[in-house]
Amino acid sequence: MSLLIGIPKETFAGEKRVASVPEVVVKLVKLGFAVAVESSAGEAANFADEDYRAAGAEVLPGAADVWARADIVFKVRPPTLDEVGMLREGATLIGFVWPAQHPELMEALQARKATVLAIDCLPRQLSRAQKMDALSSMAGISGYRAVIEAANAFGRFFNGQITAAGKIPPARVFIAGAGVAGLAAIGTAANLGAVVRANDTRAEVADQVVSLGGEFVKVDYDEEGSGGGGYAKVMSEGFQAAQRAMYAREAKDADIVITTALIPGKPAPKLITAEMVQSMKPGSVIVDLAAEQGGNCELTVPGEAVVRHGVTIIGYTDLVSRLARQSSTLYSNNLLRLTEELCKAKDGNIVVNFEDDAIRGLTVVKEGELTWPAPPPKLPAASTKSKASNAPLTAPKGHGHGAGEPMSVKSLAIVFGVGALLFLLVGLYAPASFLTHFTVFVLACFVGYMVVWNVTPSLHTPLMSVTNAISSIIAIGALVQIAPPLADGAGDRPGGLIGVLAFVAITLTAVNMFGGFAVTRRMLAMFRK
Ligand code: NAI
Repeated sequence: MSLLIGIPKETFAGEKRVASVPEVVVKLVKLGFAVAVESSAGEAANFADEDYRAAGAEVLPGAADVWARADIVFKVRPPTLDEVGMLREGATLIGFVWPAQHPELMEALQARKATVLAIDCLPRQLSRAQKMDALSSMAGISGYRAVIEAANAFGRFFNGQITAAGKIPPARVFIAGAGVAGLAAIGTAANLGAVVRANDTRAEVADQVVSLGGEFVKVDYDEEGSGGGGYAKVMSEGFQAAQRAMYAREAKDADIVITTALIPGKPAPKLITAEMVQSMKPGSVIVDLAAEQGGNCELTVPGEAVVRHGVTIIGYTDLVSRLARQSSTLYSNNLLRLTEELCKAKDGNIVVNFEDDAIRGLTVVKEGELTWPAPPPKLPAASTKSKASNAPLTAPKGHGHGAGEPMSVKSLAIVFGVGALLFLLVGLYAPASFLTHFTVFVLACFVGYMVVWNVTPSLHTPLMSVTNAISSIIAIGALVQIAPPLADGAGDRPGGLIGVLAFVAITLTAVNMFGGFAVTRRMLAMFRK
């Protein structure tokens, strides 16, 4: 029997998104589910009931029908208590829940014996979870929209121009917080031609800021801002004072300030003071993306655009909803990926598998049992390493080493000693021809290692494809084999089998070579504008 996925209309005031769009409904049906949509659920995001019907969904007239019939409910915003009252006992709810902020809702959901998958609780640090990361996809949209709102309120061009009517300098944009939203804002503002500067407490984002066309502004104070899992921590008093001094300078120079700084579970840090606003040029704009969490600017009014000291301060909390069609599409794709994980058999049924770290992380209630907060996921080697790089802040210094830690001097000396002895033995007993080849081989390994080691990780894939192409030097060997005998008759024509093998080798390496160069070109094109 296949389960019914219900998509009710969002009821939160001003919310225009819908939890699933018609093109995703088609894919849900292919996974074996039946889909029921509340009439006009997608209207505000420009999806008509007709589109849902065409995609294979049933359109039901009222919310109560959808809530009462659905085995699985897809939502965007956390449900109201009334909505939970309509949820069928034992049903599954998937959407934003924010369990820490909604204790009453959590109790109500447990009372309904529901299973609740809170997309906001996804362990985002798992690379496998990225396709389901609705927080990132929504943050990217809000960063983009923040720039569009700023451009709308700002009385000048973003890009510098020299026209017959005069020279126009480019707008100066300062971005506070370079997480997902901040980076999207940097890219958008830089593409519009503005001069973009940005700051974040996590030094690791500096390269990302630069790669998107911004300039990273450092706080003149030595303190690492990573609090683990890719998130920020509350900084020391000394750091905050140095940061305030720097922000005061940046705000004074900027035409537009976009603030995105958040620390999970804490009120938004106050970064832009009333005095800084006062120091800005009249007509400047501040967009405060942290408005819902209290705001990064002292003068922000959540949900509104206000003018203070001649500066427009935008504190809209519905930026994502202002691009409802786009955000609904990305959000429903995130939910589709999650559904695929839950329904591996493609039979229209779901299995909430607690062995899976991603699923465990986002399951906050299972069949009425509170399962939140989940234990931290077991991270794969790469993430464990990045976590370990944050560790010196707290971890006590120990002796010995575990997997992934650098070797001690003693072990290094032993490895070198054994290696040198082996080389000596090879040198003494191996034939001279072997020794020549062996020396070239060892040198090639060393040079190759040093070259690859010094390449930025983001360029490893194009590098691999180009080395792939170059390594096709094997073709030369095959060409030598297949070549006609030398004029003086010193060589014989290769036998039938060798000839065939050499031909096959040339064909395959030709694919490798030209394919390698083609892939490299495509990869590098992705880095160009
Ligand atoms: P967020 O929305 O919680 O915070 C936004 C930004 O504000 C962060 O970059 C944070 O460092 C910064 N910030 C906090 N306090 C600040 C202060 N006082 N001054 C200046 N900046 C401050 O974070 P978001 O965007 O949801 O994610 C943050 C990061 O998490 C991402 O940039 C990414 O690197 C990481 N992440 C990693 C994932 C993964 O490992 N697969 C997946 C998703 C996010």
